[in-house]
Amino acid sequence: MIELHDADTFAKGIPHGLFSDMRAHPGLTWTPEHDGTTGFWSVGRHRDLVVVSRDTDTFSSGVGHIQIYDIDADALDARASMIDLDPPVHTRLRRLVSSAFTPKHVERYRQAVRVRVRDCLDQLEATGGGEWVSTVAAPIPIGVICDIMGVPEEDHQYMIELSDHLVAGTANEPLEPTAYGNTTDLRLLPFNSPAAYAMAAYAHQLAERRRADPQDDLITRLIQAEIEGESLSRDEFANFFRLMIFAGNETTRSSMAHLALHVVQFPEAFDRVNRDRDLLPTLADEVVRYSSPILYFRRTVTKPAVLSGTELNEGDKVVMWYASANFDDDVFDDPMSFQPDRSSVPTHVAFGGGGAHFCLGASLARLEVAELIEEMLDREMVLADVDEPVFVESNFVNGIEHLDVTVRPSTKSAQRSDP
Ligand code: HEM
Repeated sequence: MIELHDADTFAKGIPHGLFSDMRAHPGLTWTPEHDGTTGFWSVGRHRDLVVVSRDTDTFSSGVGHIQIYDIDADALDARASMIDLDPPVHTRLRRLVSSAFTPKHVERYRQAVRVRVRDCLDQLEATGGGEWVSTVAAPIPIGVICDIMGVPEEDHQYMIELSDHLVAGTANEPLEPTAYGNTTDLRLLPFNSPAAYAMAAYAHQLAERRRADPQDDLITRLIQAEIEGESLSRDEFANFFRLMIFAGNETTRSSMAHLALHVVQFPEAFDRVNRDRDLLPTLADEVVRYSSPILYFRRTVTKPAVLSGTELNEGDKVVMWYASANFDDDVFDDPMSFQPDRSSVPTHVAFGGGGAHFCLGASLARLEVAELIEEMLDREMVLADVDEPVFVESNFVNGIEHLDVTVRPSTKSAQRSDP
């Protein structure tokens, strides 16, 4: 049986062999759960994943949970943010912030991203290397999303800690219910994590400060927002904040962490882009495809349907494995090869298969990854030695927790440190 609900299956990253077998199998793949009375259908092929993603009437995010395990109706309500809701409610929430993430708008963040990238790489170079995730891959995206939301710099590290603790809720072990002074029943908290409680408490405090002193940031926009004449409730606001911090941070961090591995595994791809900088955007997208930071999202079937010959009934769980579809050789030429000029048609599905929930931050993430690559190329940074990565224990994110790297000084950094 394929243990796709077990975090151990992903302990060494994406299980490519397992996914390839799954794609070769006709129809969707059934994984039984518990005593075999329940289970879920897995979607591993690109073309099926795109169908599920784009049909929110048949494949709902609001009915049932978007993670594999089920939760009670009161927990669904308590946890719901736009990612767990269907149109039209989803659309109204998404509209509150979407203008801040258009390709044109995110260009405004480029300079701030560049400054963060430079600071982090300076730090790494100054010590001849170090732990790549905590020095480079984590601080850049959290810094960027916190700036956009309006979280002050001194709290960024706390946001990283809380967001990591949310992911810990997707590992095999249950979390300590009273951590962070939590008093809420864990089943009512996103990822069953007490960090979700702490993040909400933090968001409410920040909202208080913004009510007294509004700023040009998304926290202020959310507390002032009205949908059909009504402000967001306390829970809606907290869920929005948690989603933005989590989504804007863990995912891009994962691509940036994997980037260090790609640089060492595929040096000719980076050399080529160094000579032809027009390829930077496609290289950044290849890093995102190859790292596939989100392994899956689930939908729940609302009416009888047939997908790839498999009959689906109302209430069935359907799990879209992005990390499988991104390596589907029916769609991608030589998918295991890392191609800096890979065609964008068909597009990879690391940001989702299209439709209502397509990643809100895709343009921002692409910009951040491209900026990091460009700065590494500009300073001719050579990662001389990259240790075995320690993966995050999760069946939901393809994250790297720890990655030691050694940086060989380049002529450029020597020139910069000359008096
Ligand atoms: C490499 C980085 C990223 C990856 C791989 C990624 C991946 C994804 C995926 C797979 C989805 C679900 C798509 C679907 O269900 O169709 C999603 C949704 C979302 N992402 Fe991202 N994401 C990334 C970066 C970001 C950033 C930087 C932000 C910051 C704003 C962000 C915010 C969101 C939000 C708010 C949603 C929910 C959208 C909705 O339900 O309408 N993501 N992302």
